[in-house]
Order: sequence, then C-alpha cells, then structure tokens
Amino acid sequence: MPWTPVWYMRQAGRSLPEYRALRREGSILEVLRHPELAAEITLQPVRRYGVDAAILYSDIVAPVAAVGFGVDVTPGVGPVVERPFSSRGDLARLRDLEPDLDLPWVAETVRILAGELDVPLIGFAGAPFTVASYLVEGRPSRDYLRTKALMLTDPATWHALLDRLASIAVASLRAQVAAGASAVQIFDSWAGTLDPDTYRRFVLPATRRILTEMAGSGVPRILFGVGTGELLADFADAGADVVGVDWRVPLDVARRRVGPGPALQGNLDPAVCVAGWGPTAERARAVLAQAGGTSGHVFNLGHGVLPETDPAVLERLVELVHEETSRGRR
Ligand code: CP3
Repeated sequence: MPWTPVWYMRQAGRSLPEYRALRREGSILEVLRHPELAAEITLQPVRRYGVDAAILYSDIVAPVAAVGFGVDVTPGVGPVVERPFSSRGDLARLRDLEPDLDLPWVAETVRILAGELDVPLIGFAGAPFTVASYLVEGRPSRDYLRTKALMLTDPATWHALLDRLASIAVASLRAQVAAGASAVQIFDSWAGTLDPDTYRRFVLPATRRILTEMAGSGVPRILFGVGTGELLADFADAGADVVGVDWRVPLDVARRRVGPGPALQGNLDPAVCVAGWGPTAERARAVLAQAGGTSGHVFNLGHGVLPETDPAVLERLVELVHEETSRGRR
C-alpha cells in the first residue's frame, strides 16, 4: 500500500444514514442472523469512506449470547445480561463455543464479504476482561465494582471465567479466519480501568493465550483498549502485532512504551471529528506527525466513531491521510 492505511472502529453504525435506513428494530444480535444484511452493513462504510479495511459487523457479546448465557444488546444502552455471573456455579453456563453450530451466520457473513471486498476484512473478538465485565456487571458500568470484587475475593473463579472466555474468543476468531477474515482485533475496551499490576496478574495471561493461539493463523493480531496508557507495554508483551492507542497518549510516547516491535494503531479523538472538518484536519496532521519516523502505523480514531459524526468529515479524513502519507514522507 503506497500510504498509511486507515479505517475506523465503529465505522459501520449510526453515524451513517444508509445504516439507519437498513437497521431493523430490535437487537443487533438479531440483525446478525441475516448474513446478506450484515455483509451489506459491513460494506457501507467501505464504499462511502474508501477506508483500507472493513470490520465485520458483529458484536463482542455475540459468542457468549450464542452459548446461551442470556445476553442481549439494548439499543442506546449496550449489552444487558439477564442473570449476571456471580459465583463459581455460573461457569457451567459458559460451555465451549462451536461456531458452525452456534452462530453459523457469522462465518456465512465473512464468506460473502471475502468474495466482495477488495480490501482486507478485520474479524474480532472481545477480550476476556471486557466481556467478563459485561457478564459480571450485567450492563455497562463506570466503576466495575462487582468485576473487581470477584477477581479480588475469588481469584480461582475469576481465572476460570477468563479462561472460558479466552477459549470462546479463540474458537470465534478461528472460524472468522477460516471463512476469510485477514486480520483480527481483540477489543479490551475497558481494560484501562485496571492498574498495571492488577492487569498483569488477573487479565494479561488470558489475553496472551488468545494471541498465542492465534499466532499460527498467519493473520495480524491487533489488541486495543481505551485509557490504556499505563498498559501499553503490557499490551505489547501480551504478543500483539499491532497495539491500539487511544487519544490520550501521543503516538511518539506510545512508541517508546510499546518498543520497536509492534505497529501502532490510532489515535485521533473521535470527539474532534464531531467538532467539524477544521479541527479534524489539524489534529489528524498532528497524529501523523507523531507517528512519523516510526515504522508501522495504521491510522484510526482513538475509539469508535460517535453517532453524532458527520460522515463527510470521515470521508475527507481518509483522503487527507492518503495524501499526506503518499508524498514520500514515510
Ligand atoms: O464498525 C465496527 O466497528 C464493527 C462493528 C462492531 C459493533 N460492536 C457493532 C455495534 C464492533 C467491533 C463492536 C464491538 C463492541 N461491542 C465493543 C468493543 C468496541 C468498543 O466500542 O470499544 C463493545 C464495548 C461492544 C458492546 C456494545 N455493543 C456497546 C457498548 C454498544 C452500544 C450501545 C448503543 O446503542 O449505544 C453495542 C451495540 C452496537 N454494536 C452498535 C453497533 C453498530 C450500535 C447499536 C445498534 O445499531 O444496535
């Protein structure tokens, strides 16, 4: 590729009028059962923005919902769990995932996309900590009190839970790669709520296992979280090929923390895009300058596209990244 590649987390979704037009009532988990529809939603931002990658339209709780844990995604809220995970006995509700039987529509969507796309398709899974936080809290949380209490008061159950979730993630990712996904991203969106010592003891081993087990798949493995400035070295240590960085840490600083190995992905503040094109262009150039000189940068936002974003801004942003990085600057 002659330029720095660019794609956006949550590029498919409510900021696109064509998404709102297609989106049926009810849970995203219901929409996913219709491969033609899920594939079309995945393609919409690729057509409109000219991004260099597609990300599968799915959700991090789809696999745990498919093994029958009793999770749904409420529009405007997020994942909601009927009977949250509270003690050892709940492990029995998390059997192994058999992708071909439990959610065959995901691989079917990937196969359709692999046939239609001329850019790579990124598959994904939720990291064990972030998925566990939904299962334990029962809904989106600000302070993760129950999650932290479980890990600190019953570490054996906690580690067993993360181990189950790691196995489910690996099964899901392998099925996506087998069907044609050419990279995978592991979303540990909420890991930034943890201090580094707690992250290393209670979370990193399960995430590392996913990355290790996916190493043989031959596809690049991206690890992303929000507010993870103090965890970036650990994200690299976990074995990621690409470390996602949110907007709080300049990429040159992130590079020092991550070391020379992994590529960096990020990290324009998604709120800047809502402020309009002027601020977006200015901040995007700053991001590119901070990435400059270091090898391996995938341009992205520091977190997902916000629903209030004007799609025209994201379209121009792809052009800017391509133009600025095609002039032999890198
Ligand atoms: O374009 C893409 O990035 C691909 C699709 C994607 C979705 N969810 C679609 C979705 C991806 C990669 C996810 C992962 C996901 N789901 C994460 C990790 C990424 C992140 O944002 O940090 C998390 C934390 C979830 C859990 C979740 N699902 C939340 C918090 C929400 C938002 C609830 C809301 O309505 O505000 C969802 C629902 C969801 N997942 C939507 C989309 C496009 C929006 C609502 C819908 O149309 O139903």
